[in-house]
Formats: sequence, structure tokens, C-alpha cells
Amino acid sequence: MELNTIERDDIGAAAEDLVVLPAATRKVFVKTYGCQMNVYDSQRMTDALAIDGYAATDAIGEADLVLLNTCHIREKAAEKVYSELGRIRELKAERAKAGREMLVGVAGCVAQAEGAEIIRRSPVVDLVIGPQTYHRLPGVLAKARSGEKIVETDYAVEDKFEHLPQPKRAELIRRGVTAFLTVQEGCDKFCTFCVVPYTRGSEVSRPVAQIVAEAERLADAGVREVTLLGQNVNAWHGRGEDSEEWGLGRLLFRLAEIPGLARLRYTTSHPRDMDDELIAAHRDLPALMPYLHLPVQSGSDRILKAMNRRHMAKDYLTLIDRVRAARNDIALSGDFIVGFPGETEADFEATMQLVEDVNYASAFSFKYSPRPGTPGAEMNDQVPEAVKDERLQRLQALLLKQQQHFGASLVGRTIDTLVEKPGRQAGQKVGRSPWLQPVIVDEKAGEIGDIIQVRITKAGYNSLFAELA
Ligand code: SAH
Ligand code: SF4
Ligand code: F3S
Repeated sequence: MELNTIERDDIGAAAEDLVVLPAATRKVFVKTYGCQMNVYDSQRMTDALAIDGYAATDAIGEADLVLLNTCHIREKAAEKVYSELGRIRELKAERAKAGREMLVGVAGCVAQAEGAEIIRRSPVVDLVIGPQTYHRLPGVLAKARSGEKIVETDYAVEDKFEHLPQPKRAELIRRGVTAFLTVQEGCDKFCTFCVVPYTRGSEVSRPVAQIVAEAERLADAGVREVTLLGQNVNAWHGRGEDSEEWGLGRLLFRLAEIPGLARLRYTTSHPRDMDDELIAAHRDLPALMPYLHLPVQSGSDRILKAMNRRHMAKDYLTLIDRVRAARNDIALSGDFIVGFPGETEADFEATMQLVEDVNYASAFSFKYSPRPGTPGAEMNDQVPEAVKDERLQRLQALLLKQQQHFGASLVGRTIDTLVEKPGRQAGQKVGRSPWLQPVIVDEKAGEIGDIIQVRITKAGYNSLFAELA
């Protein structure tokens, strides 16, 4: 099989060049795995494809194009893609019998990490496209439709965000009152367990003007809450409108000026990049929600060093103290890895101790998964699976207890809630607390997009129940 990579000058036609929008004649089904950045990217790809004449569908069977936006962070995440491709092979064969085309594309971090290998393993795949080249998608598709197999995974020299078309206002309105906005992409930190520096490339910050324009467009379409995204979002920096160098704190202040935007968040941060300005924003900027996701991975200095996190456990705890001093109602969230190579029982106990010390409102915890090409995968002393299982259970039990304790502590309190969408049950709406919990209210409590004051009546497993205050 011949594998072709398209040339640099084949850059997918930028939206601005197209005056007449073709009527949506084809359908695209997009499935998203992994982190919020993939959710954002899937939307941007859908927007680019809309200009190319593809309407989004939720029914995979009727799709002329199936796009899997994949995640490579752990082995399980990456393997899911291949089982999905197995199912798609049958669907594609069925459609072929009916004389209908079904192009199959793999995007995202597995695409970047495995490239042409994906087509070798799953010949059903027609195109493989990495995260830095989504603006070339229309051009890539044109070639794929003519029967070529395409692998497009170089890091584009041009700014993809400049070339990716913006969605129509109606589409933004349809997407609701909360939105993601990628401000930074890639990572230069090279933690020894992590694939992200290889799948997303080196750190790039989007310019202030681009970010402000996109946030204004979102606000104009009724978005009330924006979450700024980046693999290292607090490493974002750029030249501000005053020609000074801004950090994320300054950017947040600027975005808070946009009429309509009531709430701001950012994720994911690295402890090393939490600067004074950003901590001050938590103190002085009411629009910045009192919730901070700050991964630490381990509470053992030895393991933190082996992970190349470049800080010690006490640095993290000191930082948490400073953040809490700035904003005492801030809720902390974290990421943890158990069973990193060489992790002893004592190292794990240090993680449990750190969790006790911090007291998290929510957290994500994972068993270490050796990833090809990362230093961690080559290390001696890989921890047996059974030990990882046992540690994960103990850690998750503690984190769950803290999460429930946090929920219960809110009962009886009056808080702001952004009404977000209709509830699953008739007569209800779902809102969002400042601390990211879903809040179930009566549907008459407010209109979607309103920020209402509610009194928490009950804390459920994952959500809060409330009545209008
Ligand atoms: N940039 C963020 C994390 C991005 S990846 C940070 O610096 O913390 C999201 C989370 O996945 C990580 O925080 C880590 O907890 C987990 N993770 C990453 N690689 C992993 C691996 N090889 N095995 C298990 N968990 C991993
Ligand atoms: Fe991965 Fe570390 Fe970069 Fe986070 S900081 S994306 S964990 S390499
Ligand atoms: Fe996964 Fe890539 Fe996000 S590996 S977690 S989709 S950056």
C-alpha cells in the first residue's frame, strides 16, 4: 500500500477564501476520546467540515465520513480506537454494499503518535491526521475521496488557529452557555511518564488578539462561562494590548471585561507555572471561579524526581497554602498516578499523606501505564499490576471520601449557579456550581444562561440538589 503525505502547499483551503457555502450534502460522525482539548478540537474540525459541505450526525451508520479524535495518554485509551475501528470495518462494508462511501479518519494523539502504523494495523482507515494540521483537513479529504491513503502528521509551520474557520453564530448558540477555548497547546516539560510532548509538540501560546476575538464571539452567542484550555495552560504568555508581556492572570482580567462573560476557568495547570499574578487573580477577579485543578501525581519526592516533575511535595503544599490564602473558598482538584516504576509502599504512603494534607474536592487517579517512547517505559522496577490495583483502590477510596465530604459541606449554603441545560428528568434543569458540580434545580428556577442564587438541599454522589434561594 502506498502511503502519501500531502505537501505543505496543500494547506486546507482557509474558510475566508470560500464565499459560497456548499449546501450540506454529506454527513460526518465525530467520536471524541481523551481530554477537553480534544472536545474543543472536534468542534473546530466540525466547523471546518461544515464549510466543506459536511453536516454533523449522531448516527454513525449514515455517515459519509467517520472521524475518531483519539487519545494516547494510557494504553487503554489508545487501544479503544482499534476496537472501534473493528466495528467500523463492518459498517463500512455494509455501506459499500449499498453503494455508499464511508471515509474513515483517525485524528488526535494516537494519529500523531502512530501515524502510518494505524493504516497498517487497520486498513479500513483512509486518513490519519495529527492535531497540528486540522486546518488542512478539507484538502486532505479531497485526496482521500479520490482513493489515496493519507498520513498527515508533521507539525505545521503555519498557525492552524488562523486557518481554522470560526463556527457560525447559530452553531455556537446551539452548543450552549459554557464553552472551551484553547489558548495554549503542547508541552515542553517532558514528565517521564507522559506522551503529550510527543503527541502535541512543543508549547505554543495563541496571541491575545485571537483569544479575545474568539471569546467575544462566544459571549455574543450567549456563552456565560469560558474554560481556557492548554496542556500547560498557566504557561500561556503573550504580548498584551499594552505591548507588555502578559501571563495567564492578565489575560483572565482582560477576558473578564467582555460583556456577558460571567465566569472564567482554566485547565490544566502545572504547579511550576502558578505565578503570583495568577494567584492574585484568584484573589481579585470575581469572575475567576474558585476551583483549581492542579495535578501533583505523587506525594513522594523520590518519585516526583523520577517523574521529572521538577518540584518537591512541600513546594506543592506551600503553593496550595498560598492559593488558599488568596481565596479561602477555593476547591482543589488533582491528578495522581500510582505504581510509577520504583514506587514503594512508603512512596505510596507519602501520596496518601499529601492527599490528607490537601483535602481535595475532586480528583482523577490512574494506574501508571508505560507508554512507548517515554523514559518511564524503559525504567527498571516496573510495579506489578496487582500492586497498582490495590494502591489505586486505597487512593480512590480516600479521594471519594473527601469529595463526598466537600459535597456534604455545601448543604444549607446559598451559592451561585449557572443554569446550563434541561435536566434528564422532566421538570428539572441542570446548573453548574462555582466548583464544577452539576446542580439540579426545578426547571422554573431560571432560564438557561441565567446565574441564579440557590440553596443546596442535598448532596448526591456526584451532584447537588438545590432550590431557589
Ligand atoms: N499537563 C497536565 C496533565 C496532562 S495528562 C499536568 O502536567 O499535570 C492528564 C493526566 O493523565 C496526568 O495528570 C496524569 O495524571 C495522567 N497520565 C499521564 N500519563 C500517564 C501514564 N503514562 N499513565 C497513567 N496516567 C498518566
Ligand atoms: Fe505531560 Fe508533564 Fe507535560 Fe503535563 S507537564 S502534559 S504531565 S509532560
Ligand atoms: Fe489524550 Fe492527547 Fe489529551 S493524549 S489527554 S487527547 S492531549
